[in-house]
Amino acid sequence: MDGNGRWAKKQNFKDRVFGHRNGTKAVRKTIEASRELGVRFLTLYAFSTENWSRPKFEVNALMELLIKSLKDEAEQLLENNIRLNTIGDLPSLPRACREELQKVIDLTKDNDAMILTLALSYSSRWELTEVVKGIAAEVAEGIIVPDNINEQYINQRLMTKELPDPELLIRTSGEQRISNYLLWQIAYTELYFTDTLWPDFDEEELYKAIVDYQSRERRFGKISDQIKA
Ligand code: IPE
Ligand code: MG
Repeated sequence: MDGNGRWAKKQNFKDRVFGHRNGTKAVRKTIEASRELGVRFLTLYAFSTENWSRPKFEVNALMELLIKSLKDEAEQLLENNIRLNTIGDLPSLPRACREELQKVIDLTKDNDAMILTLALSYSSRWELTEVVKGIAAEVAEGIIVPDNINEQYINQRLMTKELPDPELLIRTSGEQRISNYLLWQIAYTELYFTDTLWPDFDEEELYKAIVDYQSRERRFGKISDQIKA
């Protein structure tokens, strides 16, 4: 979800937070439209490990917006059978954020139409480093021998272990990079880039991305004839 700051600037607002506030409306629209379409897994990159380096004022505003959004949307998530989930270094978040997240996670824990995952204080290299540490400790303790480590074993140690690999990754605002997001998981994900700034993203934009996705042939390294067969 990129482009909140530029969106605010375009509207002649000096305050980037104005963009973030409007970004939450795009979040709501995207969740609603995804749910209506029957998307089972939606994962939003809300705050990266690197975002901690932004000015303190902006970081605080983002954390407050997170708390407010959780409070405002909890009932909607519950009613729409959406389960909230998180990935990232959660202990690094302010306590008020953690508490609000936990409340909504508990509230929606029995929902099963869609898993909405928020990536918070997340970066893929951090996640993979944690996985390596964990497996190294298991090897040291004799729980597993290195020869038995395979892709599935690694998958089961990622924070996304209950999620399938993403089919489609959408990045807004014209930037064409991954920015430390789900590096392992997107090995065969279809990438979609749009110039639309995140606060302008809505159901129409989501449909456009999905229609584009539907026109692609996912070969997973095979040849076209094999896929058609
Ligand atoms: C939102 O957009 C991403 C978040 C970290 C919440 P940005 O804040 O990165 O907006 P730009 O890239 O400065 O326009
Ligand atoms: Mg940005």
